[in-house]
Amino acid sequence: MPTATDIREQVVELAREFAREKIEPFAAEWDRTHHFPRDVIDEIGKLGFLGMCTPEEYDGMGLDAVTYLMALEEISAADAAFAVSIGIHNAIPTTMLVKHGTAAQKERWLKPMARGELLAGFALSEAEAGSDAAALRAQATRDGKDWVLNGTKAWATNAGTADLMMIMVRTDQPNARRGAKGISTFIVPTDTKGYKAAKPEDKMGLRSSNTAAIELTDVRLPAGQMLGEEGMGFIYAMEGLDAGRLGIGAQAVGIARRAIEHCLRFCAERQQFGKPIQDFQAVQFKLADMATRTEAARALSHRAAARKDAGEDITLYASMAKLFASETAMWVTTQAIQLFGGYGYMRDFPVEKLFRDAKVTEIYEGTSEIQRVVIARALNRPR
Ligand code: CAA
Repeated sequence: MPTATDIREQVVELAREFAREKIEPFAAEWDRTHHFPRDVIDEIGKLGFLGMCTPEEYDGMGLDAVTYLMALEEISAADAAFAVSIGIHNAIPTTMLVKHGTAAQKERWLKPMARGELLAGFALSEAEAGSDAAALRAQATRDGKDWVLNGTKAWATNAGTADLMMIMVRTDQPNARRGAKGISTFIVPTDTKGYKAAKPEDKMGLRSSNTAAIELTDVRLPAGQMLGEEGMGFIYAMEGLDAGRLGIGAQAVGIARRAIEHCLRFCAERQQFGKPIQDFQAVQFKLADMATRTEAARALSHRAAARKDAGEDITLYASMAKLFASETAMWVTTQAIQLFGGYGYMRDFPVEKLFRDAKVTEIYEGTSEIQRVVIARALNRPR
């Protein structure tokens, strides 16, 4: 009988091998050509990596959160864009369905998602509702037993490549707005009439992940496609984002780690003033700081994950992990470009992609400013 430690080692090793062989050699080309590698996602899905956090009773791997982060770090180190495409699926729609799905919804959506047969995404933001997510305006209206959805969502990962999207819309009516309590979540199969993903956004980084707006035009859904209770969609989205933010922590750590690995090799080879630049103390100190901050980001993320595994509320800790890890990734990749000098600024060398990929970790799933808001609010809450 394998122990939890054996399983962790096996899963992380499998993720590392898959990333080394099937992702990393192609990541730069995917980035250049905006290629979304659905075939490779399907392949990793068959190995169980689209059901990492899904309980075994729903055909998932049932991994603990720490192991999930370790596996995601391996994939992120190879390609952060690939990591977000599967990370969103594993963290947000999966968490929402596990917590709030009916038996029928779990059978119909969660199980095939975990088996890697369906890819899912999440759509909360709108053009005028980013940080202020509760201000969203897409509307669902009842029509007999159905709901009819109209509106436009923005910047949704996997919008044009997923088989289903978890979409947050208003179910309160314009004459009786209820703020955050007027939002509900719908499970929307992307082949539903009236669902249209726009052209993928032309992004600075994560260029091979699919990010797009969604036009919802009279999207008719039976009542059974609503997740959980009417009016609870904002809270479900926030719970999903707690899990998602942990994943962004691991993604950022993976980016930073890979930048350090490239720098160690480069600084050993690059000769200036008659010796490898690694022999200069200025370079050594920079590398020491990069490694120390990355290890601290990993430790903070794993600590937050361990709290999740212990069944504790992680809102505060997930925000701390995401905030610290994303700012670490941005700082580390900035130092990496500096160490590479002129080479660092060139597309032919790997660190500029890491720098571009790092930036969004400070923005999506809640900006660094929003993480600080969440943290400050938690600190001020009466105990
Ligand atoms: N878990 C459970 N419930 C939560 C919660 C959480 N983490 N956070 C808030 N809630 C609940 C509150 O308790 C409250 O419920 P009650 O009234 O019953 O107490 C309700 O939700 C409303 O909460 P707030 O009053 O705190 O709401 P707010 O309007 O002030 O917003 C916010 C809070 C933290 C700023 C929130 O809007 C937020 O996180 N904004 C950022 C949104 C975000 O991360 N967007 C990213 C979109 S996903 C993405 O990036 C795209 C992608 O595909 C990668």
